[in-house]
Amino acid sequence: MVSTGRIVPAADEESIRLAAEVIRSGGLVAFPTETVYGLGCDALNPEAVARVFEAKQRPSFDPLIVHIERRASLDHLVAAIGFDDHRLMDAFWPGPLTLVLPKRERVPDLVTAGLSTVAIRMPVHPVARALIREAGVPIAAPSANPFGYVSPTTAEHVREMLDDRIDLILDGGPCPIGVESTIISMAGAQPELLRPGSLPLADIEAVVGPVARRGGSDQRPPAPGRLARHYATRTPLTILPAGRARLLGPGERAGLLAMSSPVDLGGYAVVEVLSPSGNLREVARGLFAALRKLDGLGLDHLYAEPCDEQGLGLAIMDRLRRCAAPIQCEGETPLNGKGGC
Ligand code: TXA
Ligand code: MG
Repeated sequence: MVSTGRIVPAADEESIRLAAEVIRSGGLVAFPTETVYGLGCDALNPEAVARVFEAKQRPSFDPLIVHIERRASLDHLVAAIGFDDHRLMDAFWPGPLTLVLPKRERVPDLVTAGLSTVAIRMPVHPVARALIREAGVPIAAPSANPFGYVSPTTAEHVREMLDDRIDLILDGGPCPIGVESTIISMAGAQPELLRPGSLPLADIEAVVGPVARRGGSDQRPPAPGRLARHYATRTPLTILPAGRARLLGPGERAGLLAMSSPVDLGGYAVVEVLSPSGNLREVARGLFAALRKLDGLGLDHLYAEPCDEQGLGLAIMDRLRRCAAPIQCEGETPLNGKGGC
């Protein structure tokens, strides 16, 4: 397989056929989902899965989500499906909910990082669905960014970072939601939140009752989206205290990520307003693109306004906190490592 990173329009049926063929023959295809762009491969082909890890420079302890298009595919991947699992699937699939369930032997260990569970998601984006259907195999796909960096929400974001490491990029326009799926483990005694995401926790609890939440972060967590520093810009980022107090240092060239307008422009070299009306859906949709844009301007520092941690706000603040977290020596990646440790 020759890596070209070629972008093709996803609306074209021929592109979907070509992309499916690339997947079936062990190649890598970046494709849009409703949350972020994924870097997909045949989930049942360990060599293809290894290429995904290589392209992302992803540590092998970080398992991948397997994307399916119909529930019948679960039989081959999952060992047991309980009553509550069915209720969550009925309520939220297809959509931005990933369920961690006991795996069948057939799922390669590389996909699950040796865990006895597998993360499964049924996306609602028509391009993702068409690709999985046409490929005829489950598609393992992490977000299509180098490990630890801001997730991609356009085909161009993917090309900028991974161009020569993947075979094809399906361009389906900007992702309509903009932050990743919510991950719930259903493999333990009680449902447990592994990663807050675009499906609000309250909606999930309305279906299955209380969901356990583990605090803090680890170096080798069950969901490395939980690593303290992740989704990170190269430019250091600080979350402002509520009330917009400014912390600019003398002569500092800083960018502000504002949740809403009006904004106090004083002192900032650049201001990105995510949603003039403060609508959290709009904030989520533009969050990663705005972080990338600010990160590309060579500024000294980025500041972000906080939002309320309700509904989508929980996932938005989770991503901002991990982006703002101090760089760690252990588990540092080439991208977020800036020395000094
Ligand atoms: O919205 C999304 O979920 C996007 C799109 C492309 O579907 N995907 C995504 O994948 O965010 P990724 O690889 O960036 O994040 C998946 C997270 C990782 O933090 C991984 O550790 C966790 O899912 N995960 C995967 N399998 C798991 C398992 N068996 N147990 C616990 N966590 C798991
Ligand atoms: Mg990711």
